[in-house]
Amino acid sequence: MANTAKGKVCVTGASGFIASWLVKRLLESGYHVLGTVRDPGNGKKVGHLWGLEGAKERLQLVRADLLEEGSFDDAVMACEGVFHTASPVVTGSNSKEEMLDSAINGTMNVLRSCKKNPSLKRVVLTSSSSTVRIKDEADLPPNVLLDESSWSSIEFCESLQIWYAVAKILAEKAAWEFAGEHRIDLVTVLPTFVVGPTLSPELGPTASDVLGLFQGETGKFTTYGRMGYVHIDDVARCHMLAYEAAGARGRYICSAAVLDCGDLAALLARRFPAYPVPRSLPRAYGEQSYGFDTSKARALGLAEFKGVEEMFDDAVASFIGHGHLPAAEERRHA
Ligand SMILES: NC(=O)c1ccc[n+]([C@@H]2O[C@H](COP(=O)([O-])OP(=O)(O)OC[C@H]3O[C@@H](n4cnc5c(N)ncnc54)[C@H](OP(=O)(O)O)[C@@H]3O)[C@@H](O)[C@H]2O)c1
Repeated sequence: MANTAKGKVCVTGASGFIASWLVKRLLESGYHVLGTVRDPGNGKKVGHLWGLEGAKERLQLVRADLLEEGSFDDAVMACEGVFHTASPVVTGSNSKEEMLDSAINGTMNVLRSCKKNPSLKRVVLTSSSSTVRIKDEADLPPNVLLDESSWSSIEFCESLQIWYAVAKILAEKAAWEFAGEHRIDLVTVLPTFVVGPTLSPELGPTASDVLGLFQGETGKFTTYGRMGYVHIDDVARCHMLAYEAAGARGRYICSAAVLDCGDLAALLARRFPAYPVPRSLPRAYGEQSYGFDTSKARALGLAEFKGVEEMFDDAVASFIGHGHLPAAEERRHA
């Protein structure tokens, strides 16, 4: 039974992969949610949100765009907390300029709206583990455990043209500076690669990459190399804990496990033999053995992260449910 005494919070980019799951958990927990989307009238983008438990009574969707100054003012003024998740995620079509502009100026745009609301309790910004882990080999000693004090190297990301990471690093750094200057209570959540069920039948960039792996695609995960993985429900829980815990401060890495792409492919090929998952993938970046120290998120209340098997089981079940993958039985008999 939801505790309906909770207040009203704003979730930016509410129709996105992670944000939709966060909206689901916030509604279930009793919050009123004011979600911002670019096109509230687009049923294909937002239809899945209206089916959520509590949506009819406690969900409101309004239009806002990261690139329009002041676009978030009304939404933020109506709320006591803000989850800023909207940001372009890596796709082939994002140009460097578009990526940097929406992430950095968009985040500042949202924070300028936050500054105008004196009764705002806290802002939770969705950053990324890509702001922590992308460094030259010399700065990643064997088996190093990276924690929240680590920042990726902007120069190294630029040299590899990883504009998504550059955008996320600059956006998070700018957010910390602005929040410090204007005394905004900011907490950031840094998920690794997010895997799990998608609420929308329309797949976003990361869910599409996972689907590709189950269809035999090798390129994306090879370029991703060694990476952390986390279940979408743990990401939503981490956002809520970061908002609710009075003592939450600073950055929180949110990750269940770190795997080389080849080890991930081998695990999935064994677990899902009915699908053409590549049995191995080459190491594009040589030997890497870094991990993440997630003790801070654990101390916040995320005692147990769901494992890699569970997150991919849930993702596959959702792909089958939405008709993106045939059920394993259908594949065997086809
Ligand atoms: N997925 C991951 O593995 C992962 C890992 C770490 C961090 N993150 C971070 O988590 C957040 C959400 O990612 P996601 O995977 O859920 O991606 P997603 O499904 O693509 O959602 C991104 C959202 O950002 C919105 N957006 C993009 N440009 C916008 C603009 N100019 N104005 C307003 N909204 C805009 C999109 O709105 P439309 O629906 O209108 O396009 C969409 O709702 C991002 O900040 C991302 O960097 C993701």
